[in-house]
Amino acid sequence: MLKSILAHLPAGFPWKDRIVYFDTIDSTNTRAKALAQEGAPHGTILIAGQQTAGRGRLGRTFQSPGNMGVYLSVILRPECPPEQLMHLTCAAAVAMCDAVEEAAGFRPGLKWTNDLVVGKKKLGGILTELSVAPHTGLVLYAIIGIGINCSQTPADFPPELQDMATSLSAAGASIDRAAVAAAMIRALHRMDIALLTKKDMLMDAYRTDCITLGQDVVVLRGEETHYGKALSVDDDGGLVVALRDGETKTVTSGEVSVRGMYGYV
Ligand code: BTN
Repeated sequence: MLKSILAHLPAGFPWKDRIVYFDTIDSTNTRAKALAQEGAPHGTILIAGQQTAGRGRLGRTFQSPGNMGVYLSVILRPECPPEQLMHLTCAAAVAMCDAVEEAAGFRPGLKWTNDLVVGKKKLGGILTELSVAPHTGLVLYAIIGIGINCSQTPADFPPELQDMATSLSAAGASIDRAAVAAAMIRALHRMDIALLTKKDMLMDAYRTDCITLGQDVVVLRGEETHYGKALSVDDDGGLVVALRDGETKTVTSGEVSVRGMYGYV
């Protein structure tokens, strides 16, 4: 697999010698954190054929069955305070739309904040984790973990996910997982170059891809449920929602989950 991925990257690609492949791992994000703490350089990429403890947002698990998806984490070391990286997950999400479009021939949408969707079903997700150096207040490392379902049939998903989850092949693409992984790596590298200097461009692209905008949504925060309409995404990736009681609220991805009024999207 690693050989095929490398074959899809241009000669001289700067992160080429920093890609590590695991047949099976607990979680590429968990391992990336350990490597980052040991000093792994900017651009280190971990890819797994299978994860036994794949992690999703808000403490959820991410189903990562063997050789059916791309499970990938990248370690970045942008030298800035964390406040300058509020848009990181949005930028990564746009990069993943670019990667899928390049590898599979169609562009997925983004369900705020970081789910890739096609045909109203989830194709993949992103989990971003940040560590800040206490002495400088600057980012020590950021880990962006991405899982994209590639070859699952509907029956491969657990029954409770079958109405909500899809894969590239179920969406009609004939896929090569190595080509998908390489497209993801190239897109992450382009994103990294633009990250701190082209924030406006990245967020405009995010708003274009975000299918949540204009939708009636349910905002779930713990036991609380709020109904409203998604109006916009602010420059930090917060979702601005007009609630039914007339209040306008900006919600951030770490605290709430947003559903469509009539289902997952
Ligand atoms: C979500 O949908 O809530 C986020 C899912 C993120 C899954 C990816 S797979 C690679 C990386 N390793 C993990 O344990 N999680 C991320």
